[in-house]
Amino acid sequence: MGNRPEMFEGTDTIWMDGEFIDWEEAQVHVLTHSLHYGTGVFEGARCYDTSQGPALFRWEPHLDRLYSSAEPLDHEIEHTKEELTEATIELIKRQGLRSCYIRPLVFYGYESLGVGPGDSPTRVAIAAWPWGAYLGEDALQNGVAVKVSSWRKHASSQIPTNVKATGPYLNSMLAGEEARREGYVEAILLNKEGLVAEGPGENLFLVRDGEIYTPGLSQSILDGITRNSVIEIAEDIGYTVHDNTSISRGELYTADELFFTGTAAEVTPISKVDNVEIGNGGRGPITEELQQRFFDVVDRKTEDYEEWFKYIDV
Ligand SMILES: Cc1ncc(COP(=O)(O)O)c(C=O)c1O
Repeated sequence: MGNRPEMFEGTDTIWMDGEFIDWEEAQVHVLTHSLHYGTGVFEGARCYDTSQGPALFRWEPHLDRLYSSAEPLDHEIEHTKEELTEATIELIKRQGLRSCYIRPLVFYGYESLGVGPGDSPTRVAIAAWPWGAYLGEDALQNGVAVKVSSWRKHASSQIPTNVKATGPYLNSMLAGEEARREGYVEAILLNKEGLVAEGPGENLFLVRDGEIYTPGLSQSILDGITRNSVIEIAEDIGYTVHDNTSISRGELYTADELFFTGTAAEVTPISKVDNVEIGNGGRGPITEELQQRFFDVVDRKTEDYEEWFKYIDV
């Protein structure tokens, strides 16, 4: 299709403000408020091609987070959760997708260009396209080299970190690009206090002496849905998970294992931090076990966690 970027090949429809429209028609005016001030909120969810057919993974928590992200920004989403669910399922079916990434976006359209959105309408769009391993297939196997960013994660007293708003991703973008410029795959951000927060688009886990640690929600992190899933999976296997910790920078270097979680990154091992090898310098055994279990769950090779899936009748 014309000059559609490679990333979006194989998709041709966008849902926007209640209608399915051609990909090329999904455009906004250059004076769109959210384009200028980053006043949108969004989600990233996945549909997995499971052994029982395509299924949305943990759709309700994603939708709940979208609506609660909208609140502090005063967005009033005119569509019900049921409407957005139906639209998403139909979007996937219409495009014949089985496994894809789903991006709902809520943003202020154009009316006023004061920093306050005035009467700018809240608009909603949903896109879905195939998206494989976010940090690369090799990353899932061998882990990624990360850099502790010189940029700090913004504090939740400055911009709420529990909402997924578009503007604050400038912080993530700066950290990620700085890392990539220096040859790393991804970044880790410390919070204002200098403690470990998270990756630019991932939560972080640490393994030490057979127990699992992850920064608590007060450390300026997003309340990740994959984070919660992995905590539950790990506890069900029998691991002790400390999910309200503070982790210092030094503890990263001396960890037995480190890994990222996220809808896009899934469960990605971290092999090196600032060129210091972590554990065996690859995917650690507990990371591998959790990763395997996570993929077994999302592929529906196991019967538990059935309530996490919304099947699409194709
Ligand atoms: C900053 C940030 N932290 C963590 C995550 C992981 O959250 P989730 O597992 O809900 O995708 C994401 C991705 O959405 C993110 O952007």
